[in-house]
Amino acid sequence: RDSKVHMNNLEDHSFINYKKNIDNLAIIRRRLNRPLTYAEKILYSHLDDPENQEIERGKSYLKLRPDRVACQDATAQMAILQFISAGLPSVATPATVHCDHLIQAQKSGPEDLVRAKKMNKEVFEFLASACAKYNIGFWGPGSGIIHQILLENYAFPGALFIGTDSHTPNAGGLGQLAIGVGGADAVDVLAGQSWELKAPKFIGVKLTGRMSGWTSPKDIILKLAGITTVKGGTGAIVEYFGDGINTFSCTGMATICNMGAEIGATTSVFPFNNSMVEFLNATDRSDIADFAKLYQHDYLSADKGCEYDQVIEIDLNNLEPYVNGPFTPDLATPVSKMKDVAPVKGWPTDVRVGLIGSCTNSSYEDMSRAASIIEDAKKHGLKAKTLFTVTPGSEQVRATIERDGFLHTFEEFGGKVLANACGPCIGQWDRQDIKKGEKNTIVSSFNRNFTSRNDGNPQTHAFVASPEMVVAYAISGDLRFNPVSDTLLGADGKEFKLQPPEGEGLPAKGYDKGKDTYQAPPADRSSVRVAIAPTSDRLQQLTPFKPWNGKDAKNMPILIKSFGKTTTDHISMAGPWLKYRGHLQNISNNYMIGAINIVNKEANNIQNHYNGAWGGVPDTAAWYRDHGHKWVVIGGENFGEGSSREHAALEPRFLGGFAIVTKSFARIHETNLKKQGLLALNFKNPEDYDKINPDDEMDIVGLASFAPGKDLTMVVHPKNGSAWKCPLTHSFNKEQIEWFKAGSALNRMKNVFAA
Ligand code: F3S
Repeated sequence: RDSKVHMNNLEDHSFINYKKNIDNLAIIRRRLNRPLTYAEKILYSHLDDPENQEIERGKSYLKLRPDRVACQDATAQMAILQFISAGLPSVATPATVHCDHLIQAQKSGPEDLVRAKKMNKEVFEFLASACAKYNIGFWGPGSGIIHQILLENYAFPGALFIGTDSHTPNAGGLGQLAIGVGGADAVDVLAGQSWELKAPKFIGVKLTGRMSGWTSPKDIILKLAGITTVKGGTGAIVEYFGDGINTFSCTGMATICNMGAEIGATTSVFPFNNSMVEFLNATDRSDIADFAKLYQHDYLSADKGCEYDQVIEIDLNNLEPYVNGPFTPDLATPVSKMKDVAPVKGWPTDVRVGLIGSCTNSSYEDMSRAASIIEDAKKHGLKAKTLFTVTPGSEQVRATIERDGFLHTFEEFGGKVLANACGPCIGQWDRQDIKKGEKNTIVSSFNRNFTSRNDGNPQTHAFVASPEMVVAYAISGDLRFNPVSDTLLGADGKEFKLQPPEGEGLPAKGYDKGKDTYQAPPADRSSVRVAIAPTSDRLQQLTPFKPWNGKDAKNMPILIKSFGKTTTDHISMAGPWLKYRGHLQNISNNYMIGAINIVNKEANNIQNHYNGAWGGVPDTAAWYRDHGHKWVVIGGENFGEGSSREHAALEPRFLGGFAIVTKSFARIHETNLKKQGLLALNFKNPEDYDKINPDDEMDIVGLASFAPGKDLTMVVHPKNGSAWKCPLTHSFNKEQIEWFKAGSALNRMKNVFAA
């Protein structure tokens, strides 16, 4: 148990420190004196100060020491720009950057990659040079999607990772806690500071029995999303247990953890088990597997008798395939019921495109099972009736499925194999088969299906399902098709039923690593230069935000009172805007352009409070800022759900916003707002949301005595009528209040370093 085992095969300076985890746990056990869940063990054993840290689920703020930070290219730009402005020589925590979001799907994987490299040259060069300079591993374009690469190379049981992407929890499939954060949180850890997380609650999901036939791990999380809704996991870690957890692969567990983000969970995790050993062995990490086995009993499993705040049970024997959507991932319909539901709801039943892959479902197993269904259809002379795309999750998966013939199968089926990247999942899709505004249905094996996300068309009804079901829909072309019970007509005119999918969890011949796309940081980094052209429209050095002026804010206009779901996609759209993720001024031109104005139920059309002119949200916000008016946004429930993108918080700050007042926030977005020096506040009485008119003016008072747990007051001045007081709650702790006062968390960090 005392051996020195590297955390991964790519870095020689980082070692797994289970001994320290166990020592910290001994302190926690003495203090709490109760059985611990597996997630509690990982979390508390990574505390900065286990002896003195206050630990109360749902209440205290934990200061943690993550083992690793990972950033994808769209979020890394801003994270690194912030890290640079902190003025440190190199990162203090192992880290990697992954180029996956900026590659648009258009023609084919190789062609799209060449074009993306050209279009994003400046950004990729900036990231590559900054990684070399600050001692960060760099995975270039074409290497694959961040979460697949983390799973294949870096994740290990019992670790705590943070990543600037909301699907970082994917690595929970390898028995670790992996949590999505905003870039500013990542910068704290890169700079050697502890990372703060509100002590989560714990939801236990008990899996019993065994799946069979057309059911796959994706269906577990699709069903769970239907049970919990998109906010059911907020503030909680989901921990799986029960005899069912040992019946599927490590990558299947990763799929389930990946989509825990869709129920708002902080992260999700499976305890260390044999499927993880097999995956570690298959990815050349037998030393880690052997080492973990030594700690299985006391560290890498839940204690007997541990208690969860909530327990949900799913019987795998009776689980059937699900298809979730459209427009929200928690609208779960069993495949067998879709025949009845779709026509009633008016969902187009003609499936136009089937898309498999993404970080959620692009494992070797997913691909081999999808290919088995296609081979079966081929025997009956059938090809895809719909368009069909495949995004391999990594170069390793791509090369392996090419060697094993699956890529050929997909292409014969009529499929298009895209680059190893996010592609259509993040709206990087030059979709040509329909006109914008045309009502249509697509089905993907991705995780998210918010309005317009994939193709920018608000009339696209996007559904998410397992890759197996996506293939079945691609063959039938009909959303009402249920492969469990329905027949298809073969080319010979005979009816037949598709055989249930079959596949291998791991490649029998081992993985083929494919092309080497990894750039390790050089030993001598002193001569590396990181350049940002002042004329660039892609990258812009950050100017620190001004500190708070010490006064209450008076007579602020409401920029927009948003109606309905306001996700980070509505607040800071992806797709074509991804290219400005390193340029705050330019990307701020997309602020809230997808949010619906409660006044006219339109997107990006609001009225200027002072001159009455109607215009776009970003232009109006900039007008207020330039005329010296701070402003407020009013929002509903789970405001900012979706991704970890901190641009959704940087933009309102850049445009002169002062407070975002909502019924409730999604966790990452709330922290992001605080980090950028904005007031993230909640209505104490949610019905006050309805009492606010979009042309009211607002004061926020009581800031001189701003303190944890103490309400603030918003004084509402209606245009006609008397002012009234609206109490606001908040979750700021002491340190976060210092961020607000300093103007941002980064300002605060610099002040502390300077002192
Ligand atoms: Fe990329 Fe979609 Fe995953 S954007 S990281 S493939 S959720």
